[in-house]
Amino acid sequence: MIVGEAVPARVSRMLDEIASIGADPPGVSRLAYTPDERRAHDLVATWLREIDLEVSVDAVGNTIASRAGREPGLPVLAFGSHLDSVPHGGRFDGIVGVVGMVEALRLLHEAGVTTSHPLRAVAFAAEEGARFGEPCIGSKLIVGSLSESDLHRLRDPAGQTLASAMTSVGLVPEDAWNARWEEGDIAAFLELHVEQGGVLEATGRPIGLVDVVSGSTRLRITLTGRANHSGVTPMRGRADALMGAAEVTSQAEALALSATNRGLRLTIGRFDVWPNSTTTIPGRVTFTVDVRDTDSDRQRAVALEVAELAGSTGTRRGLGVEADIIADTSPIVLATWVRDRIRAVSDSMETPNRSMTSGASHDAQVMSSIAPAAIVFVPSRGGVSHVPEEWSSAGDIARGIDLLIRSIVDLDTFIAQVRGPATGASSDKTEPGRKRVSPTLEGTER
Ligand code: GLV
Ligand code: MN
Ligand code: MN
Repeated sequence: MIVGEAVPARVSRMLDEIASIGADPPGVSRLAYTPDERRAHDLVATWLREIDLEVSVDAVGNTIASRAGREPGLPVLAFGSHLDSVPHGGRFDGIVGVVGMVEALRLLHEAGVTTSHPLRAVAFAAEEGARFGEPCIGSKLIVGSLSESDLHRLRDPAGQTLASAMTSVGLVPEDAWNARWEEGDIAAFLELHVEQGGVLEATGRPIGLVDVVSGSTRLRITLTGRANHSGVTPMRGRADALMGAAEVTSQAEALALSATNRGLRLTIGRFDVWPNSTTTIPGRVTFTVDVRDTDSDRQRAVALEVAELAGSTGTRRGLGVEADIIADTSPIVLATWVRDRIRAVSDSMETPNRSMTSGASHDAQVMSSIAPAAIVFVPSRGGVSHVPEEWSSAGDIARGIDLLIRSIVDLDTFIAQVRGPATGASSDKTEPGRKRVSPTLEGTER
């Protein structure tokens, strides 16, 4: 099969066009379930239709393109990433994987190549946990790890529920169950993504192959004290919610920096003070805590410890304390055999690569609960992400796309060989790489 190479100028043009949607200097604010996120999905759907693909949007906003395979009855090879951003974020996180999937499909179209397996390309909705706390909402609804009741439980900082945000952009949360994919339908899932850290740049390797993806536990903590006049109220006897929150914040940092927690990341990224006035003692503070680790026990133990610190600090200072878990995602080990196939393809392209863990969450992490999954990283300049300065070169991205498309073609042949002749869609749901090659092929949740 002769498939052409990704065209860096074409890739840059697509990135520019998407970055113009939700431009919010400095950076891009294209938050989950906003009209701007939907506009980006519409644009991608247009590009996909231009190459004769059938495109649909599911009930929860995932945009899905299907490309028929040569053999009937085979499970699909799926790939994709997300189009939403964090507030004042960059133009590459997620977008590279979506632009990469469009370019890959365009190269197949131009080459007139049809794979044995059907292909399914997906631009996921609402991957960033920035708005609702919960990451990977579109993919979690696909695999069934979020339920319809979660759509009414999760709220953004303005108090809008996830379900209401979905409805406001024309989606149908009541039909969320309809977005589910069946486990046996997916032969493998691949995601191309920017690294978001500085390992590839520092080690001079243009490709990272992810073995483990960190999990995250997120808390919302509210301390309630007594608002009062800043000039008249004596220092002793105050119930200052912000002073209490500051104490919890510094205790939490010390906990994350302790030797036993080396490698864990803890972030207090959002802080809301009421009434937020220079001349009033803060009566209420709400803040979020995001604890990430590749060790799920430590991730959850540290989150619990922060909630306990808030409790003891609140008691000592006469503050009311509420601590809620708003999201909890396990770390995941991705399927070794898919990574090994991709590494072999990368080696054959003479593209240096390395295995690495991911500190960020990814849709592929979620998809790995129903399919063997892999994540391919391309370098991020300066190791910065979720900020306007996020940058990856078009050349590096094009190289990642070349690896993506060649890996899809490789997996198409490999899986078909391992599986043998198709037996029909409903009579054999067993994913070949899972049960028939070796027991080591399972992605294992930790
Ligand atoms: C997603 O990018 C996340 O890890 O926050
Ligand atoms: Mn991302
Ligand atoms: Mn992100």
